[in-house]
Amino acid sequence: MKHLKLFLLVAVLTTKGWASTPPPDEGMWLPMLIGQNIEEMRALGLKLTAEQIYSVNNGSLKDAIPQFSGYCTSEIISPDGLLLTNHHCGYQHIAGRSTTEHNYLRDGFWAMNRQQEIHCPDLKVKFLVRMDDVTKRVLAEVADDMTESERTAKIRAAINQLQDEASEGTDYIVEIKDFFNGSEYYLFVYEEYTDIRLVGTPPENVGKFGGDTDNWMWPRHTGDFSIFRIYAGKDNKPAAYSTDNVPFKPKHFLPVNVGGIKSGDYAMIMGWPGSTNRYMTGHDIQQQVDKINPIYIKLFGQKLEVMKGYMDNDPALKISYASKYASEANSWKYFIGQSQGVQKLHVADERKAEEARFSQWVQADATRQAKYGDVIPTINQNVDASLEDMRVFMYMNVALFAPQIVLTTFQKGFPVYNALDPGTGKNKRKVDPAEVRAAADALLAELDEVYEHYHAPLDRDVMATLYETFYRDIPKERHPEIFKTIETKYKGDFKAYANYVYSTSIFATKERLKAFLQKPSWALISNDPAIILSKGMIGAVRAEYGNYLKHNSANEVPYRKYVQALREMQPNKKFYPDANLTMRVTYGTVKNYDPADAVHYDFATTHQGILEKFKPEDLEFDVPARLIELLEKKDFGRWANPDGSLPVCFLTDTDITGGNSGSPVLDASGNIIGCAFDGNWEAMSGDLVFDTTRKRTINVDIRYVLFIIEKLGNAGHLIDEMKLVR
Ligand code: ARG
Repeated sequence: MKHLKLFLLVAVLTTKGWASTPPPDEGMWLPMLIGQNIEEMRALGLKLTAEQIYSVNNGSLKDAIPQFSGYCTSEIISPDGLLLTNHHCGYQHIAGRSTTEHNYLRDGFWAMNRQQEIHCPDLKVKFLVRMDDVTKRVLAEVADDMTESERTAKIRAAINQLQDEASEGTDYIVEIKDFFNGSEYYLFVYEEYTDIRLVGTPPENVGKFGGDTDNWMWPRHTGDFSIFRIYAGKDNKPAAYSTDNVPFKPKHFLPVNVGGIKSGDYAMIMGWPGSTNRYMTGHDIQQQVDKINPIYIKLFGQKLEVMKGYMDNDPALKISYASKYASEANSWKYFIGQSQGVQKLHVADERKAEEARFSQWVQADATRQAKYGDVIPTINQNVDASLEDMRVFMYMNVALFAPQIVLTTFQKGFPVYNALDPGTGKNKRKVDPAEVRAAADALLAELDEVYEHYHAPLDRDVMATLYETFYRDIPKERHPEIFKTIETKYKGDFKAYANYVYSTSIFATKERLKAFLQKPSWALISNDPAIILSKGMIGAVRAEYGNYLKHNSANEVPYRKYVQALREMQPNKKFYPDANLTMRVTYGTVKNYDPADAVHYDFATTHQGILEKFKPEDLEFDVPARLIELLEKKDFGRWANPDGSLPVCFLTDTDITGGNSGSPVLDASGNIIGCAFDGNWEAMSGDLVFDTTRKRTINVDIRYVLFIIEKLGNAGHLIDEMKLVR
């Protein structure tokens, strides 16, 4: 599953841990500590040792599974650095290399030799070199009677020191992150490769078959994969893109198991999950899904509708907005599903019942009472107290920053503005032409990039629509100043206002901004409507962001104590920390499920389902004629099931979330059997509470991947690179 961008709020809290030890399918475990689970894993069928999963000195699974592009997972499947991930993970890079003449999104792409592989400029992959528990050192100077800000300062200093030590004399990236809401700290050493090339992708109607309709759903028939290759310098070390670079030789690569799967088979996923909140109180959960999610759903819905209107009518826009649209549509449906899931599965009530047991445990002992007695009431009071501020902040975050032009002025326009600003009164200053030139040149250099996925009329309509919604839904006293002008001068007509901004602002088109930057002038920029708009928002943005931070930090301490108490209450239970974009292992089995009374879902789909769903000319359910031909002829080559059908997707009961997209599904011996790409609709509340009976991971079967490569892509040479096992 892909990450969910932008959702600051959701990324705030941390960790899981109820009842007794979680069942084997629940849990995102740290690879370094996997030894504590190994017996359970072996009882389920695993044939590897902990050392074969995570080792600092010898090649192990972790060396084959880099993070992909900051938000997904990928795995090396050949000794020559061939990299497999999801189609929706490669999407932005595939779209970025596509044009209306060479439309790789629509038509697919297969490099027939290494020269044809296409470099993707902003694509990086990151390996975990090693990790360490640094809790003791980070918390060494921290005392119980410190204020939170003293504590934070001590921690920050210790982290900086550790970071310097660990990175000294290396090109490694060192990162220290907190776990269990700041109770523990781990240090991660990463090595990043930046010369990554596109090797192959199926056409979008295979890679995204089922589109937004099937997204987050089972049964699924999506060939959600794409293939890249890591390149390195001659010394096998990271190197900037160069034609002299050579295919990367990994410490470990995954053999491909084409022997097929059956229900109950051991299955393990390693990857880079982004964020879960498995320790929220029931009340917090309820407020999130009842009050905050609907804001996203409404605002994203409006934005998507505007985008779609333009994309449907213009093939070039369809490409340039494809990635943004897919990602926002994905999040939009995620929030709908999460709210429904919480309601249907009574997640908040269940959590409240667990809290009652927790309170009993606290009440049973005076020391505990003193330490933890107020924890849950405090959290819940803070949650209540934050509601209106959080609501306004979300509106601001999602609606006011929806138009690209506002982001552009905030991030790119103000540096130039500031350089030109002569000041007034006692702030008067002499403007330095060299400084102005430098600021203007810096922006000129990135102009193409800034306007790459931008279309002024679309952006204008996004502004008109979302600003009007903000205007109506948020009380006047919380409106940014500029809304007064819109009210008086434009009589509240947001269309007219947006028209004015986009028809006159230098930021509205790349050409105008370019002309301006060649001859920057204070008179022009200081009267620019996009600048005036953004300046007229700053006050409100600062205030609301301040509120947001205040509410967040209010609950930091109580949640930290709460998680601490939960662990104390269940000393024999293994706890795993919430996802936070660090590498994790989850394990379970291949498994079906029953989504509703009298309904049974099998654990695997076949080509038959593609033929059943196939709808010619449909945006979501069309497929290439050649694929239909192959499926109808049952021309499946080596990749068929014993009964002659072609495997497409399958389910495991593993515990993944956004960021795990593209993760390898591994068999008992560490061979790849599939590539994880989604979760199921009936358990969309999974990031808050893991539902053992219904939560599943949706994977594309590796045999379908190989079938598409060989039969649709005619790129069998890639399969020759791999090590196939049964
Ligand atoms: N739901 C998937 C995830 O979050 C993304 C699937 C992308 N496909 C799509 N039709 N938008 O990982």
